[in-house]
Amino acid sequence: MSFENQLVKWYINNKRELPWRENIDPYRVWISEIILQQTRVVQGEKYFNNFIKKFPSLESLSSADESEVIKVWKGLGYYNRAINIHKTSKIIMNTLNGKFPNTYNELIKLDGIGDYTASAISSICFNEYNPVVDGNVLRLLSRYYGLKTPIDSLKGQRNIREIGKKLISKVDDPGDFNQAMMEYGALVCNPFPDCESCIFSSKCVAFQNKEIETIPVKSKKKKPKERFLNYIVFIDSKEKTIVNKRVNKDIWYKLNEFPLIESKKEIKKITTLTEFKKLAKNTSLTINEEKEDVYRVKHILSHQILYISFYQISVNETITSGVHLTDLNNHNFPVPITNFINKLLI
Ligand code: ADE
Repeated sequence: MSFENQLVKWYINNKRELPWRENIDPYRVWISEIILQQTRVVQGEKYFNNFIKKFPSLESLSSADESEVIKVWKGLGYYNRAINIHKTSKIIMNTLNGKFPNTYNELIKLDGIGDYTASAISSICFNEYNPVVDGNVLRLLSRYYGLKTPIDSLKGQRNIREIGKKLISKVDDPGDFNQAMMEYGALVCNPFPDCESCIFSSKCVAFQNKEIETIPVKSKKKKPKERFLNYIVFIDSKEKTIVNKRVNKDIWYKLNEFPLIESKKEIKKITTLTEFKKLAKNTSLTINEEKEDVYRVKHILSHQILYISFYQISVNETITSGVHLTDLNNHNFPVPITNFINKLLI
């Protein structure tokens, strides 16, 4: 039996029962595919169920407030995904008369939908023959064919997409084929596979050549960027503090934070720093008492290591338009800031 037919047959018999596979609805498939882009299925399933409970339809999502959508996304990271989902739901409702686009070419025009998502939705929901290429597919196909072009290069990815195109053209159900590749990559041909139990072991080039540990090939990994974020938690006599919204296209776009001083290395005593003095001057606040026990946490993102410090500083003046400490949980903060708030502030 051919690779593609053997794979689809395996999928039919072994696929997981997942909520977005119950009834094939483009809205649900779209949400699931966006969630699953950076998240494992086990964790993604919980978020998917919460999301659908809160926003069961395109209508309900498009009429929600952006902050509500960000709230459901809390902890998943890459918040731009939530912002784009919300934006796109409005576009579909308002300019496409609520009709979900049903071709790859229409889907890819939407914010937050790239080749991967357009291929997944158009194949699963509308039977279009577009192969998906995600990390699972890159691993599975590069091992099966023994490909050594790095999978994090454009050349490597284009080559695998071409192979995917040829394979998908030969199956009856393109949606099942795409999901089968991803499912096999996740469940069997995973980073630490048990090749003895794999249905392709006799034909897999990487296995036959004892190259499972070296394929897929990745080009030299870039060192993650290290950043030092110093948060100043000013607290006035009424227990109010300053909260700002992040407005730059950086991590945590549109989430909230305390006044921030970013530095090149760890700061021992923040109040002696010129940037701190500037900040105090800009906010017209003077120090009453500095809590010496600075709270520091290390937070790892996919391409950055964050060294975060929180400095609690009580001030003499009242903070106009400040947020009361007990109200902080009504704002959307990134996870490490939420953890600090719940552990130490309230
Ligand atoms: N990962 C991302 N999307 C998936 C899907 N539809 N099936 C299995 N794994 C996936």
